[in-house]
Amino acid sequence: MADLPIYPLSEEHKMLRDAARDFAQKEIAPVAAEFDESGEFPHATVKKMGEMGFMGIEVPEQYGGAGMDALAYVLALEEICKVDASHGVIMSVNNSLYCHGILKFGTEEQKKKFIMPIASGKAIGAYSLTEPQSGSDAGTMKSRAICDGDTYVLNGRKSWVTSGPVADYFVVFFMTDPDKKQKGVSAFLVEGNTPGLVRGKKEPKLGIRASATSELIFEDCRIPAENRLGEEGEGFKIAMTVLDAGRIGIGTQALGIAEAAYEAARQYAGQREAFGQPIGAFQGTGFKIADMKTRIEASRLLVYNAAISKEKAKATNGRYSLEASMAKLFASETAMFVTHHAVQIHGGMGYSRELPLERYFRDAKITEIYEGTSEIQRLVISRSELGIK
Ligand code: CAA
Repeated sequence: MADLPIYPLSEEHKMLRDAARDFAQKEIAPVAAEFDESGEFPHATVKKMGEMGFMGIEVPEQYGGAGMDALAYVLALEEICKVDASHGVIMSVNNSLYCHGILKFGTEEQKKKFIMPIASGKAIGAYSLTEPQSGSDAGTMKSRAICDGDTYVLNGRKSWVTSGPVADYFVVFFMTDPDKKQKGVSAFLVEGNTPGLVRGKKEPKLGIRASATSELIFEDCRIPAENRLGEEGEGFKIAMTVLDAGRIGIGTQALGIAEAAYEAARQYAGQREAFGQPIGAFQGTGFKIADMKTRIEASRLLVYNAAISKEKAKATNGRYSLEASMAKLFASETAMFVTHHAVQIHGGMGYSRELPLERYFRDAKITEIYEGTSEIQRLVISRSELGIK
């Protein structure tokens, strides 16, 4: 893939992208199908991703990260996701949902304690907002944090936590003042071994099966007050700010899945013959290839644009919610479109577990759901465009 002319990449960007591509091919490709089948968490390859510097790409070196920009993060993540979306989401959550929020809202002490081990890949971070009764309407959470001297006591149940079963540290959101609704939410940093924090059962999933997802149950879980991230009542804003970054990660994940499925379909359409010619020579297939390619390139432009907007926002402390939501919306629907057609072009072989097409197809679906459904992205985009609150 040639660089798109409007996004000329620096030598540093290209080196990181190539290193991620090599790593994904050498280390992840040989084990991706096996971990998808078993549903086990790929500890060894995730550890190696940490050693490569992929787990804290935008984190400054002083906090254990690679000190690169938002485009670098997206370029590396795209390469990982082309090979395996499960490794991709583990990397995305660690970088975006966990490190990003602490970097932006944390104190110096919090950055040292809660980012260093995660960005350097020695430990895993996770983010927990959703509850059994509140997903899209995140401001209606019920979990409570009550201040008690120099501690907070946490109670409640959180669900659908990516990396929940394995994470060492969590950013978690609790109500500190339920009467204030969204303005009564606060954010906390919780160590995974804190008494009173229990991990629920691992969720059985359609796709991204090697990434681990679970509930978190807090029962009189006591943490130091200094673990509050930001001010009391600032939690909803922190959650939303962090999700803007997360949505670029998921848009990138969708882009990588689509690219992998497309490349397999393109090659197959040129080789497989039916009725005396390659199936790609039939317009029914050729036009699918054209639409797949066009949508992928449009997704890439939106995703890279969102990353560049995020980078610019670092200097201005501005928002890039619109760009992030458009990138996630379009890339995730493209991933569904492309994987659907890629399976169809492969016919029976597309349905077989001997090829990765069916895995791409299963993995694509979650990108339309987590970190804000497509409906929520449309809500964010339309509210922004229409100036509606
Ligand atoms: N950045 C900063 N502030 C933001 C913001 C953003 N992106 N979005 C909203 N806010 C602020 C608003 O400005 C507002 O503040 P003021 O009152 O001071 O103006 C406040 O937050 C409330 O905003 P809204 O009135 O827009 O809130 P809402 O209740 O209408 O919700 C929503 C808006 C977009 C629907 C939001 O609730 C949302 O994004 N929901 C989806 C949640 C989601 O993505 N969940 C997935 C969780 S993660 C996951 O999937 C699991 C995992 O492990 C990966």
